[in-house]
Amino acid sequence: MSTSTNEGKQPDVTLTINGLAVKANEGMTLVEAAWHAGVPRVTSVGCMEGVCGSCRVMLRRGKEVTVDLACQTFVENDIEVVFLPPASAPRHHYEIDDFKDGWDIHARFHDIFPEASRCRHCHGCDNACPKGITVENGVALADAGRYREAGEAFFECIMCELCDVACPELIAPAHVGLFSRRITAHFHLRPPNLIHRLEELRQERQGATLKESDEE
Ligand code: SF4
Ligand code: SF4
Ligand code: FES
Repeated sequence: MSTSTNEGKQPDVTLTINGLAVKANEGMTLVEAAWHAGVPRVTSVGCMEGVCGSCRVMLRRGKEVTVDLACQTFVENDIEVVFLPPASAPRHHYEIDDFKDGWDIHARFHDIFPEASRCRHCHGCDNACPKGITVENGVALADAGRYREAGEAFFECIMCELCDVACPELIAPAHVGLFSRRITAHFHLRPPNLIHRLEELRQERQGATLKESDEE
C-alpha cells in the first residue's frame, strides 16, 4: 500500500485514536495517523503491508462498529479507532506429528475443537475478516471433515484472529483454518519442485561435510 503523510500540509482530518482526539492528513493510514500524533501504547504494528495481522483495530463510525487492519485503513473524519491488544495464546492444543494416519483425524478434530460443531451461522467471522475469506464456510467444511477444502478456503489467512474475536461460540475459526492447512500438508507429499530442491540441499550439505572431514 502506498502511504502518505502530506509533509508540510496542515492536518485536516479529525478522528479519535485510543480515546485521544487527533488530527491527520488525508491519505494517511490509521497507523501513520497514530504515529504522527504521538498516540502512546500503539505497539501492535509490524509489516505495514496487511500481511502480519498485528495492527488490529476496532472502528466506530456512528452506530456501526467493525474491525480491520490499521495499516490498510485510511483516516476518516469522526471515526473512532481503538487498537486491539495482541491475540492471546491459543486455547486449542495438539501436536501435528501425533497424527500417524488419516483414520482418526475427524474424531480428534472434534476433541480439539469441540465448539466447531456449534456454529450459529451468525456471519460474524465473515464480517470481521479483512481478507474477505469465507470463514464460516471454512469452519463448516472442517466440521464436515473436508479439511483440504477448508484449508483452501483459509489459503489467504494472515492469522490476525479477528474472526476469533468475533465468534460468539469461541470456535477460534482462525485456528480451525490453521489446523486444516496443517493436516492437509501433513498427509500430502510436498510439491515435486520443493522435494527436488530439498534433495539438492541435502546433497550439498553432505558434500560440504565430507569436504570438511577430508581437510581435517
Ligand atoms: S480468517 Fe480470521 S485470522 Fe484469517 S485473515 Fe480472516 S479474520 Fe484474520
Ligand atoms: S462467528 Fe463463529 S458462530 Fe458465527 S458464523 Fe463464524 S464460526 Fe459460526
Ligand atoms: S502492520 Fe502487518 S498487517 Fe498491519
